[in-house]
Amino acid sequence: MNRTQYLRIISICGSLLVGFWFPIRLIGFVPPIYLEIFFDLLISVISIVNIYLYFYDSNKNPRELPSWFNLSLVLDLICVVPFSLISFLMLDTTFHSILLFNLLCARHIRQIRPFLDGFPSLQPIIYRLVPLIITMPLLVHLIACGWIALGSGTAGIDDDPTLTYVKAIYWAFSTLTTVGYGDISAKTMLQMLYACGTQIIGVGVFGFILSNVAGLLARSDAAREHHMDNLDKIETYMSLHKIPIELRTKIRTYYHYMWTNKKGYQDDTLLEDLPVKIQSELILHINKSIVSKVPFLRDADSELLGELMTKLKSRVFVPGEKIFKADDAGDALYFIQSGSVDIISREGSIIATLQDGAFFGEMALISDKPRSATAKAHSFCDIYALSKDAFDNVTSSHPHFKSHIEDVMKKRVA
Ligand code: CMP
Repeated sequence: MNRTQYLRIISICGSLLVGFWFPIRLIGFVPPIYLEIFFDLLISVISIVNIYLYFYDSNKNPRELPSWFNLSLVLDLICVVPFSLISFLMLDTTFHSILLFNLLCARHIRQIRPFLDGFPSLQPIIYRLVPLIITMPLLVHLIACGWIALGSGTAGIDDDPTLTYVKAIYWAFSTLTTVGYGDISAKTMLQMLYACGTQIIGVGVFGFILSNVAGLLARSDAAREHHMDNLDKIETYMSLHKIPIELRTKIRTYYHYMWTNKKGYQDDTLLEDLPVKIQSELILHINKSIVSKVPFLRDADSELLGELMTKLKSRVFVPGEKIFKADDAGDALYFIQSGSVDIISREGSIIATLQDGAFFGEMALISDKPRSATAKAHSFCDIYALSKDAFDNVTSSHPHFKSHIEDVMKKRVA
């Protein structure tokens, strides 16, 4: 965290202090004078911090006077003056109206946003929730104190100040979130107007909060929502084209597999907007899972792995799908991450069933001849393909990779 971030924390804490403390002061609680002066001096310091942040954020030069003139800044400049100290020295303690100016300092609570912007790696939900969590209690408190200042409606002012405050909080909360329950209502015209104003604020503020919370809940499982949306569209499409039941079941099973194994996303298409460097780091990370599965890759040096990882392309095959047919041209080498693949001879008999961690399709690439057999997915298969060009590149720079594959090939031919 840099210096400005620390100053923003001071500004936010100052706003909360002012927002919670001064309304209580304004509704009649009289603290010892030394506490009063201490708070006033604190506000002066916080206001200097706010003035510094104003110039920092707006990039304005304090020396070019007309360019920075701004009402918000003038209010901060007024808050710098320690009024309570001055009036104390002048033996005058009637400075209530001055406190109202200090209360305006609470508006700097909005520093929360630039403060959070200083943490680029935070989850989006934090950006949305933290300002709400911090500002809501402050708003309820301010409205409750205003209500007490107006006489607390039919609830009146109790002998116990805590009870008066709790009743006012209850009234503020119920009026903001609903239209109030009517158990505490306005008596005077001013109270009625205040209640109307609070209801209007409630409609705006709580409407905003509710829509945000609803949005947050919906977004909390964005992948599932996206998946459900896709399923709905596919179901409509299948009904429109009167797709036979058997094919429908296959399509649904495929999407179910994609959801349970990849949360609906194909790795290659994800995060395409990222810069190339970050993309390759990401691909390296995602494709690393194959290393633990393929025995000979586990011992491979990091240079070979790095080259291989960025060139592998992830693919999914459904049960019964042909990955390639006998006599096709050899276009890639395949690594099985999960699932099983049948190798079927030209005559139609199963020569081998390969499992997780095995590779196939090497013969055509090494011998430059057509495929010697058909490869067919036996179950759902997560497969990594290394294209022929990439294979040629890797084998020319890492001959031991090629010789290992040749060894496996010789054993298979034998
Ligand atoms: P390719 O000829 O390119 O295409 C068919 C693939 O099946 C072949 O490469 C091998 O990878 C694989 N294959 C062929 N025979 C066997 C075997 N006996 N055991 C395992 N895999 C095989």
